Amino acid sequence: MGLKILGTGRYLPETVVTNDDFAKIVETSDEWIVKRTGMKQRRITEQPTWVMAERAAIAAIENAGLTAADIDLILCTTVTSDYITPSMACIIQGAIGAVNAVALDINAACAAFVYALDMAHMYLQHGYHHVLIISAEGLSKITDYTDRSTCVLFGDAAGACVVGWSEKGFASTLGADGTGANTLFARRPLNEVPFVEQIDPQSIDGFPDVNRPGVLYMNGREVYKFAVSAMSHALKDACEKFGTTPEELDLIVPHQANLRIIQSAAKELGLALERFYVNIDRYGNTSSACIPVGLSELGEAGELKPGRKIGLVGFGAGLVYGGCVFEL
Ligand code: UT7
Repeated sequence: MGLKILGTGRYLPETVVTNDDFAKIVETSDEWIVKRTGMKQRRITEQPTWVMAERAAIAAIENAGLTAADIDLILCTTVTSDYITPSMACIIQGAIGAVNAVALDINAACAAFVYALDMAHMYLQHGYHHVLIISAEGLSKITDYTDRSTCVLFGDAAGACVVGWSEKGFASTLGADGTGANTLFARRPLNEVPFVEQIDPQSIDGFPDVNRPGVLYMNGREVYKFAVSAMSHALKDACEKFGTTPEELDLIVPHQANLRIIQSAAKELGLALERFYVNIDRYGNTSSACIPVGLSELGEAGELKPGRKIGLVGFGAGLVYGGCVFEL
């Protein structure tokens, strides 16, 4: 048993931040950012994350031709929830009037949309009919705009999908390596997190203060290495479980952390870059929102055609990764 995408939606804030804008606040340049990351612009907003999530959710439900009352499960993915409790999924449930929906949040960083899809697949096998997945990230709220090695990378966005049961297949490969927790993290304010002590001071080159709460710290080179091998492993393994090969995938929507990571993974898989959907130049890294925003753009462009085989793959803080394959 598989799943199918019934509808997609997205919300991108209006404010555009260019590479030149960053060159005014930190020592960087458009040339460096484009060459090292492929990014040209990203969107940011001061709106609460749940407001972006609500807009993407409404768009996806409408695109599916359903009403909020048809949704029986809401899975929200975010690392930037506006509240410690309640969950963002409950806030959205109330805001859109999804009166019949169970609601919960998932924190699996940039791989969370794939984790959520995997969970949705399991719930669909147990009697649920319409699962709404919303990935919303207000990363500008946890970005240190004095740290040039991270601030140019992140943007805000929300993407959503409604998925339902399908007779076609679905396969996934999820993984985690918690020993890499200290390579990418943000402390909650007023919280002492022990693993920070494990960081080698030599590896924090240029980062102002790793103990500063509330902002993202990243050892970019370490995460980069993990990303390339995790992406190709997750995609290959999910293909094998599905009974296919990466060459047979019509389309791959990867997490958008760095164009060079996508290029390296494509090379490792022996695939042309054209097979991968890329919008990193316009939005940068929006964590778990990258993949559903991509799906929504592809849906709008008429690219999510029935019969096509699609692969999704993400990785991020945890460290975590996830890949899945299904037929549209
Ligand atoms: O969503 C999942 C999490 N994120 C990722 O997966 C990101 C993974 N990592 C990366 O994408 C890359 O490691 C970065 C884009 C973060 C950095 O690129 P890099 O090619 O790995 O650069 P680097 O860290 O090796 O730094 C090279 C140089 C350094 O200067 P020195 O030591 O050679 O003098 C940095 O200080 O580039 C410098 N640098 C910058 N220069 C201009 C770092 N950031 C910038 C910047 N502008 N924004």
